Amino acid sequence: MKKTYLLILLLSSLVANDKTHTFASSEDCKACHTEIYKEFNGSMHMHSTPQKDPIHNAVWSKHPANKKMQHYGCGKCHTPAANNLNDMLTKGKKALPNLENRTHQEGISCAYCHRIKDIELHKKHNTNIIATTPKAYFGTRKEHIDSPYHAIVTKGNEHMRNGNVCIGCHSHKMNKHKLNVCSTNIANEMDGANCVSCHMPKVKGSVSTLHETKKHTFHGFAGSHYNSDMLQKYVDISLLKEINDFIVNVDNRSSHALLLHPLRTAVLKVSVKRKEKVTQLRDKVFVRVIGHNGKPAMPWKASVTLKDTMIKANEKRAVKYDFKLQKGDSVTVVLGWYLVNPKAIKKLNLENEKVATEFKVFKTEKFDF
Ligand code: HEC
Ligand code: HEC
Ligand code: HEC
Ligand code: HEC
Ligand code: HEC
Repeated sequence: MKKTYLLILLLSSLVANDKTHTFASSEDCKACHTEIYKEFNGSMHMHSTPQKDPIHNAVWSKHPANKKMQHYGCGKCHTPAANNLNDMLTKGKKALPNLENRTHQEGISCAYCHRIKDIELHKKHNTNIIATTPKAYFGTRKEHIDSPYHAIVTKGNEHMRNGNVCIGCHSHKMNKHKLNVCSTNIANEMDGANCVSCHMPKVKGSVSTLHETKKHTFHGFAGSHYNSDMLQKYVDISLLKEINDFIVNVDNRSSHALLLHPLRTAVLKVSVKRKEKVTQLRDKVFVRVIGHNGKPAMPWKASVTLKDTMIKANEKRAVKYDFKLQKGDSVTVVLGWYLVNPKAIKKLNLENEKVATEFKVFKTEKFDF
């Protein structure tokens, strides 16, 4: 019994992603879904390939499979619309992402995401099951007109609204040492919010050019690279003055850790202005470092979490500063991040990539006394 079951799981994990691997190009959606296309075009889902994402490329360049010019296993999530995805996922095949192949550069494309009909849960990482009918897209709007270009599927569309459509790729990724390299808390229904409502809020502008609507679902996928301002409201910063010191509270009201990828480093920067003099207090760093034999290591080599100070889901973190505030003082608190831990920049040869080296400000608060 058990054996057959395992075999079925194994087989399905090999083919499930690949039953139909022809997807309409996202370019095809542009003429009618102009606003949505524009947002998508400036998102990480559009830029998830080694040729378009220098950070992904830097890590992929160090990967043993790349060095041997072999298969691109990352494709399962980073180039899921590739026409040879099955080869990319098969050990021993030579199937690398190619700049000249249009389907390799689509990223997590419109048609791919809108054809996800189900998600299979697996230990290492989940698998998206793709509906076999081309040009039939899952949609959630109660009232819609027909589209002259494609069918709209509303039966079994619940996963598009409740965030399950995201967890095929975002839930977790376990390496061969059984370490979860990243994991997102997927029990994400909190206060009615989920992946979709937080990361894809309703914004002004029409769903399509054929039928004017006031709002549409934001497709720029607010995150740590782009549009993070749209997520500021889920993290509160407050300050508590005590007699000889003060405490800064960072209240993460999202359903997962503040940052998820192990490359990230969040930093809390605090300065006090007294008359004209500005005193910069010591930075507080939040990280999750993975490694092996006591030293930081690449995701495929890491076997343990060496250190985890990242602010967790729904956690209010208090940071104390031994500084006595006076009347007239003004405290500036900045919460932000480096997409790549500054300690890993050199090893990844990312010294000249601004996106990897710059400090990105997420939220700033000022407190006057
Ligand atoms: C199970 C799905 C999945 C697989 C397989 C996968 N990734 Fe990812 N990867 C993701 C997701 C989801 C993110 C976004 C995470 C985030 O922003 O926290 C991501 C983000 C990244 C980033 C951060 C990129 C940036 O711009 O900051 C790097 C680097 C990366 N992946 C490398 C790889 C490499 C190399 C492989 C293959 C060896 C791989 N990934 C395989 C899902 C996957
Ligand atoms: C010729 C115009 C046209 C093209 C091209 C087009 N669509 Fe549409 N699409 C529409 C119209 C019209 C609607 C209905 C809009 C409404 O009711 O306001 C729609 C609705 C949708 C919906 C929402 C269904 C719902 O009710 O929630 C999805 C999803 C969708 N399209 C995806 C796509 C994708 C993906 C592409 C490109 C591969 C695409 N469309 C290309 C015209 C088009
Ligand atoms: C086919 C796999 C896949 C699916 C499905 C998917 N994502 Fe992603 N997502 C990725 C990958 C891969 C990245 C990282 C791209 C990179 O950095 O190179 C990513 C990045 C992101 C980011 C980071 C953006 C930024 O600016 O840093 C957010 C937010 C995100 N996804 C949200 C979602 C949401 C919400 C859904 C569901 C509606 C979803 N994703 C569905 C694969 C996927
Ligand atoms: C209550 C709102 C909320 C919910 C629910 C939520 N997120 Fe987030 N998400 C945030 C905030 C806040 C951040 C941090 C700010 C940022 O990255 O811009 C974030 C960051 C991210 C990032 C970037 C992390 C990194 O390391 O680069 C990804 C990817 C992401 N979320 C995916 C998801 C997925 C997938 C789900 C559903 C399983 C989800 N989020 C549910 C609010 C939310
Ligand atoms: C990572 C997955 C993902 C990708 C990529 C994606 N969508 Fe969507 N889209 C969704 C989800 C989820 C919803 C439903 C939101 C809801 O129910 O609140 C949605 C809603 C829509 C709608 C319904 C109307 C609206 O605005 O509410 C249209 C039309 C649409 N998408 C078209 C597109 C087009 C065109 C592209 C590419 C330019 C695209 N989508 C890329 C996940 C995705």
